[in-house]
Amino acid sequence: MPYYRQVGEIPRKRHTQFRRPDGGLYAEELMGQEGFSSDSSLLYHRYPPTAILAATEFDPPAWSRTANRPLKPRHLLTHKVGVPGRDTVVGRAHLLANDDCRISYAVADQPSPLYRNAIGDECLYVEAGAARIESTFGALELTTGDYAIIPTSVIHRVVPTGDAPLRTLIIEATGHIGPPRRYLSVRGQYLEHAPYCERDLRGPGEPLLVDGEEVDVLVQHRRGWTRMTYARHPFDVVGWDGCLYPWAFSIHDFEPITGRVHQPPPVHQTFEGPNFVICSFVPRKVDYHPLAIPVPYNHHNVDSDEMLFYTGGNYEARKGSGIEQGSISLHPGGFTHGPQPGAVERSIGIEAFDELAVMVDTFRPLDLCDAGLECEDPGYAWTWARTAPATGVDTATG
Ligand SMILES: [Fe+2]
Repeated sequence: MPYYRQVGEIPRKRHTQFRRPDGGLYAEELMGQEGFSSDSSLLYHRYPPTAILAATEFDPPAWSRTANRPLKPRHLLTHKVGVPGRDTVVGRAHLLANDDCRISYAVADQPSPLYRNAIGDECLYVEAGAARIESTFGALELTTGDYAIIPTSVIHRVVPTGDAPLRTLIIEATGHIGPPRRYLSVRGQYLEHAPYCERDLRGPGEPLLVDGEEVDVLVQHRRGWTRMTYARHPFDVVGWDGCLYPWAFSIHDFEPITGRVHQPPPVHQTFEGPNFVICSFVPRKVDYHPLAIPVPYNHHNVDSDEMLFYTGGNYEARKGSGIEQGSISLHPGGFTHGPQPGAVERSIGIEAFDELAVMVDTFRPLDLCDAGLECEDPGYAWTWARTAPATGVDTATG
């Protein structure tokens, strides 16, 4: 996280005596990345964050992944996927995965268990509904269109707060997710060319100050899952400061970069993770050269698989490919993709695209998980070969 934040009570100097009203010492905890060489925060607990009473193995819902063979573009209809549960953590359906990340979808109307992902950061994107992420750092309110970045090992839970179910796309990394390096100064400030900046980011507010005993936390780690029983509730923090904490950013605060001719996907980049990037396609004016072709050229990003999640906008205009709200397209390396038949001609003269999509480009191939195959539209791969032009303009995917 590029900037410093302070919440609640902290001592004047770090690593010094900080006493509770009863005279006892608060327990200081440092959460830091990359072996004390990157972002960190200091948290002050009422009780030791180390006290566990039990640890038992936990089996999450079974899942599997299969290589994209035969190699072909895929279309997943997430609104038809069978989600295994009613919360955002254990109840997520895994759709796509490689050794760097896993992409899932959840439909939740129940609070998740307390959860710690010790493998990597998570990025949640709220397609619909509202939620509060409660963590050792406080509460972070989310609504439709919000991204939330939850750093590795932050104990948290996701609580749906809206009337409708909470629909989220979840990207689990095997490392850290943050803003692209090229958006930041050497000291971490967002630069003028970045499509968003510090004013657009939100962090947790006041500490939760939860008091409780014998509290279970599900820990996902590189060797599986464990249920740890903590002696005291981990949300007992009275204050913290630092540059590591859960944070949120609304896709609606992403300011699109446009040009006279078609701009390539890196202008849409929002975050970067280990071996993948996350981009936001938002409503925008399109290319204004007098001879511009607003839809993308056929393209083959030979080092990437390209996943696009369609999360808003006018999908009446995309009937030709079957894409609809909640669709995911996967255009893998080894396959050239581009506009659907007829889309290039139809796009000429269009001044604006009304679309909202989240893209994940991975630098290693994405496998298909069983839930992804379950909701696949099997005809998508052949939609470019139709002899009759499709009726719509496939804007973001090309
Ligand atoms: Fe593309």
